[in-house]
Amino acid sequence: MTDSARILVLNGPNLDILGRRDPAQYGTVTLGDIEDIVRGACEDAGFAVDFRQTNREGELVEWLHEALDDFAGVVINPAAYAHTSVALHDAVEALTVPVVEVHLSNTWKREPFRHVDHVATAATAVFAGAGADGYRLAVLHLATLLG
Ligand code: DQA
Repeated sequence: MTDSARILVLNGPNLDILGRRDPAQYGTVTLGDIEDIVRGACEDAGFAVDFRQTNREGELVEWLHEALDDFAGVVINPAAYAHTSVALHDAVEALTVPVVEVHLSNTWKREPFRHVDHVATAATAVFAGAGADGYRLAVLHLATLLG
């Protein structure tokens, strides 16, 4: 693993209210819990990590641009923007580093509008339906790809 093994973990809209949001779907895990899981997995893998959340599509686009130069890989839960954002598709497609998409829920088992995923069609890999463990799996997969 090189010194430059820094990874960017991005979280999209409404993930800041996990724990209070639709517990039947997402359980009681909070974004803080997920951050702890990610930091633990990154420590084990030897990655430095930048963990962020925003409710704004353009901010996600600008953060993805940072991975053109500054990060070895990206984990992203684009949340609802996965289903609507061609801009996020294009930003992911422009990257040469691996991008692993995560959804806590199995979006394929849910409403038909969640079966369109513009990020998945540009991502390196997708984990959906494994809950918070999907983030750990995403970090492990980046470690495999970058190791
Ligand atoms: C989600 C799934 C999306 O469909 C939804 O809009 C979210 C959360 C997930 O992690 O399961 O906000 O990305």
